[in-house]
Amino acid sequence: MERKIGVALVGCGRIAPLHAKALKELPFTELVMTMDVIRERAEEMAKEYGGKGTDDFQEVLANPEVEAVEICTPHYNHARLVLAALNAGKHVLVEKPMAINVEDAKEMISTAQNKGLQLGVIFQNRYNEASRAVKEAIEKGELGQIRGARAFLTWHRSDEYYKLDPWRGTWAQEGGGVLINQAIHTLDLMQWLMGEIKTVSASCRRWGHPHIEVEDTAEAYFRFANGALGCFYANNCYPTDEPIFFEITGDRGKAQILADRATIIIDGESREVKPQAESVSHPAYWGRGHQIQLAHFYQSLLKGEAVEIDGRSGMVAMAMVLSMYASSATGAEIDFQQFIKGSHEVNGL
Ligand SMILES: NC(=O)c1ccc[n+]([C@@H]2O[C@H](COP(=O)([O-])OP(=O)(O)OC[C@H]3O[C@@H](n4cnc5c(N)ncnc54)[C@H](O)[C@@H]3O)[C@@H](O)[C@H]2O)c1
Repeated sequence: MERKIGVALVGCGRIAPLHAKALKELPFTELVMTMDVIRERAEEMAKEYGGKGTDDFQEVLANPEVEAVEICTPHYNHARLVLAALNAGKHVLVEKPMAINVEDAKEMISTAQNKGLQLGVIFQNRYNEASRAVKEAIEKGELGQIRGARAFLTWHRSDEYYKLDPWRGTWAQEGGGVLINQAIHTLDLMQWLMGEIKTVSASCRRWGHPHIEVEDTAEAYFRFANGALGCFYANNCYPTDEPIFFEITGDRGKAQILADRATIIIDGESREVKPQAESVSHPAYWGRGHQIQLAHFYQSLLKGEAVEIDGRSGMVAMAMVLSMYASSATGAEIDFQQFIKGSHEVNGL
């Protein structure tokens, strides 16, 4: 039998049960510790999924049975916790966004490299059957030369949602609004499927949530190195959570994703890709991929291979968001590679 990797889960809030459940069910992971600044949350999680609950992060770092740490805390403390875990010799899997500024992301990537540890970032939607099928169609050249992509996200986050926890809706702690929290998954899909980004031009505003600091509505135009154009729209002040629409067009065909289904149309012939298992015990808009991403991550650790969605990928998705803020605040089209190199971040609308 394969050996089990000991894992600690840090941050036992809304997303944590998805991680804990996967860690319990996967045959090669064991939840050794759960940790939250609110001790009862850590203890409840441990009771249900295993391990020892604590409110002491140092205890997690000092435990030799903990080989990997999963960070599921609010955005503003991802960088600090990830760096501490890496410096203590632990592999890390961090929830999106990996950080809220480029400098922190770079330090996280270089620390992992220097320590010979793996740093993974959660973007579970890449593991949906629909996303995989579209990626494969592009890589096989079925769509021909890629010309453009468009994505349309209209979701609902209520005023109550923003009152749930003090970090939500703030520049300092959430690091942004609909883009950095919800739409970052779709931005990540765009960069994964379209490749290197040249420029970003965006407009972000607060439209439907007067009591938050950050944007709840945004649009952007991305120019890609392959010459294609990406058109992007997102808001979280629509009355309902509607399925995300995503399309890639090439000169031979196109691929459309609506929620978790893909339609791939090549030379007028169309084929559908649907998820194999329908059952979801968590909101469908979170996607079904956490368990699959965790399985990939820990299999890579066991094989000593690089993880699939690494810090560099996580940084690009995060920088797409931050460059949109910079473009919106200055009115300028941003050179994306320069933005990552020089990092001129601007918070504010
Ligand atoms: N991948 C997805 O689809 C998805 C969905 C929802 C949330 N998320 C991400 O998961 C992360 C957590 O979001 P959430 O909705 O679960 O938030 P949450 O506020 O419900 O939970 C965060 C938990 O972290 C704890 N915490 C805060 N600071 C801590 C610290 N220093 N050490 C240990 N624990 C600490 C809080 O007490 C809380 O229990 C965010 O990065 C969010 O963007 C991802």
